[in-house]
Amino acid sequence: MALILGIETSCDETAAAVFDTDKQQLRSNAVFSQISMHKIYGGVVPEIAARTQFEKIDIIIKHALDEAQVTLDDIDTIGVTTHPGLVGSLLIGLSFAKGMAFGANKKIIGVNHLEGHIFSSFLKEDGSIETNLKFPFLCMSVSGGHTSIYIVRDFGSFELVGSTLDDAAGEAFDKVSQLLGCGYPGGPIIEKFARTVDNQDFFNYPRHKNPKTLDYSFSGLKTAVLYDLVKRGAFNLKTGIIKEAMNDELRAHVSSSLQVCITDMFEDRARRAFKLYPELTSLCFVGGVASNRYIAGRLRALCTRYGKEYFSPPLKFCTDNGAMIAFVASYKAARGEFDDLTLDVKKLG
Ligand code: KG4
Ligand code: ZN
Repeated sequence: MALILGIETSCDETAAAVFDTDKQQLRSNAVFSQISMHKIYGGVVPEIAARTQFEKIDIIIKHALDEAQVTLDDIDTIGVTTHPGLVGSLLIGLSFAKGMAFGANKKIIGVNHLEGHIFSSFLKEDGSIETNLKFPFLCMSVSGGHTSIYIVRDFGSFELVGSTLDDAAGEAFDKVSQLLGCGYPGGPIIEKFARTVDNQDFFNYPRHKNPKTLDYSFSGLKTAVLYDLVKRGAFNLKTGIIKEAMNDELRAHVSSSLQVCITDMFEDRARRAFKLYPELTSLCFVGGVASNRYIAGRLRALCTRYGKEYFSPPLKFCTDNGAMIAFVASYKAARGEFDDLTLDVKKLG
């Protein structure tokens, strides 16, 4: 039995998981989320994230080992996120992993966080691995930090064919939520408001069109929402203060229009990717934004129209987690792709 311990600390989560490579089965998945700590700042504060991870990492790893009913002695290899991410946060996970690898004589593998998200496509609710997902597939990875489109040809083999030129889509949800005077993270709040008005498009915000590439842009959309709110007397541009015209009806209309607009862009890129790469079997929707049921529903319907399969991991594997890192480390270990203790964090992916 070969067990892999996966460790993830690239942003604000502190996460660890144990994966059994023989049974191809996750044995545990432990996460400490800091969302409530960053809420008052309207986003992740890197210094707070790293300090908290420093306090929590040993507890979370112990939790993952206990839940898997194993000890560190039973672990064969440690997989750890090395890039991209907040450097201070990455260093906490990597330093801890290297310490354990050195002290307990374990093998170590550095994992690309974005590769982790791509291959989270294979993680099922019960921790088993999806066997119906066939290569090559289209992966749309969307979170608060990235918005990318990949053609995935095999385990560890993927090509970036589109990405955002500015903000991430999750960031657009977060920033608009802030303009509306709602909390962080914005995605779930916007989704909820949109549902109250049946996910209709009221304001027809501009869609970024780019017929030559599969890239996106979201910063213009955020600005369009801002000026629309100013025009409606709901936001003071000079002071940044929300004005009397802001109410829940307007919040719902803005939220719903924003959600439809972003979904239209996703749908457009997916449709064009299916045409450009007819060999694609499926679409996988991953990352924090993939927990949005309206967007997921529209992408699933698109797949039905194009004769493609649709996959998306459960919420616990959409957001940052150690399971996806352990899974990537498992196929790297099978190929003998180990690192040594000179392993370091990298700023860029
Ligand atoms: O993957 P994730 O947990 O963290 C990283 O950014 O790496 O993604 C968080 C992002 C936030 O921007 C949040 O607003 C967005 O995912 N998000 C959503 C939803 N839930 C989370 N966006 C749209 N709809 C949601 N239901
Ligand atoms: Zn992530």
